[in-house]
Amino acid sequence: MVDKHLRSSDGPTGAVDMTPYISVCRAHTESLRAARGAAPQCFVLTFGCQQNVADSEKLAGMAVDIGYEITDAPEQADLILVNTCAIREHAEKRALSIVGQYKHLKEKNPSLVIGVCGCMVAQEHRCEQLKRSYPYVSFVIPTSVIYRFPQYLAETVTKGKRVFRAEEEHTVAEGLPIRRESSYRAFVSIMYGCNNFCSYCIVPYVRGRERSRAPEDVIREVKTLVQAGYSDITLLGQNVNSYGKDLEEPCSFASLLRRLDGIEGDYILHFMTSHPKDATRELIDVMAQSRHVAHSFHLPLQSGSDRILSRMNRHYDRAKYLDILDYMREQIPGIAVTSDVIVGFPGESEADFEDTLSMLRRARFDMIYSFIYSPRKGTPAAAMEDQIPREVQNARFDRLLALQNEISGEANALLVGSVQRVLSEGKSKNDAETYTGRTAQNKIVFFKEPCPAGEWVSVHIDRAEAFALHGTVITK
Ligand code: 5AD
Ligand code: SF4
Repeated sequence: MVDKHLRSSDGPTGAVDMTPYISVCRAHTESLRAARGAAPQCFVLTFGCQQNVADSEKLAGMAVDIGYEITDAPEQADLILVNTCAIREHAEKRALSIVGQYKHLKEKNPSLVIGVCGCMVAQEHRCEQLKRSYPYVSFVIPTSVIYRFPQYLAETVTKGKRVFRAEEEHTVAEGLPIRRESSYRAFVSIMYGCNNFCSYCIVPYVRGRERSRAPEDVIREVKTLVQAGYSDITLLGQNVNSYGKDLEEPCSFASLLRRLDGIEGDYILHFMTSHPKDATRELIDVMAQSRHVAHSFHLPLQSGSDRILSRMNRHYDRAKYLDILDYMREQIPGIAVTSDVIVGFPGESEADFEDTLSMLRRARFDMIYSFIYSPRKGTPAAAMEDQIPREVQNARFDRLLALQNEISGEANALLVGSVQRVLSEGKSKNDAETYTGRTAQNKIVFFKEPCPAGEWVSVHIDRAEAFALHGTVITK
């Protein structure tokens, strides 16, 4: 892990001043350091999406700022922060199971402080569950108030209080310290929350309403990153296409992207996620003319059936989706398009599912993330009557994957013989003899020639599979 410590802006705006709590936390870590002659350790575990990865980098940044060192070993930690996800039941179960395993660490080290953060604890029933059944958890920090971490830690260590406030704030906290995981790839949140209320989705309930960061703050952060040598920057938001609508001086996502593209340097810009109902031709035009914006687009389809899309409250149909898809392929030949698809949504008939398969054949995505529908407490879809049996969901999921593997394999095969610019990620985790990297379109490439992480190389693509390309480095 690289200990880069950047500030996302000049100082906290739009949020409560944490300075007094930061002082209390620093005094606490100082006393721990004095008692044992070494810095206290903090372990941060992250579940879920890239927004959560970005939030964890802020939690780790704040922890370092108040005197902790970051460790990879939970058993050595004085402070454990578990950043949770609520998007599907499986993610919540895994987080709860891990928190359960930390009980024995608390028994061994009674001064250990455990905090549970993120989307799961923005739900009242989960807060109650943690409060009741996990007495060794000291505080929870719902996603929209992560900047309050020093406050909750201070209240825990000075008053011995457990802090379980399911607070939600519609604020944008600037100026939080960030401890980035990578020295070449960075995530930059440009907005928080979601207004869309897709009928299956918990996000609007746990991340609150849309609020955008000021364009100046985003531009300043990206400029700082480029100057610090970051070469792959991903702009994050639940629906980046509605960026800026809530600002006093509205600024579209397309115009933000155009301004960011003006920053000089050798870097590539990605963004996610887009909503098909809001993706504009103007945005595609900006991408086509840009110097730095990657020729890749993640455009969640969710379903290929107009009837199901309507029940999902998605506000587009097949025709509208294909209209924007065809436009981007026309304007940006070779653009890689990826998508999200949910199978087994309540009421999905065999014919609806066939519509999804036919959309996959027509859209020919480079890759999809596919999900089995998971009912989320409090969402309209969870209360729909015609839930689909698990066996039917599983069978459809397998059919979806089989078809998409074929399509992904064919899409990747078209790249065999081409030369791709690849950002190296260093040695492969599974094979010491192999290096990995990603193309500008975010496709994984394996090659044998040693190349340090963070370097761009030109790779001749020799062979393709559904999930990866294999090649030979021709120039560094
Ligand atoms: N069940 C299954 N998948 C879901 N997603 C969101 N909510 C659910 C749910 N309840 C998927 C959507 C979204 C992606 C991030 O997660 O496809 O685009
Ligand atoms: Fe969830 Fe829909 Fe918002 Fe995406 S756009 S976060 S799927 S509610």
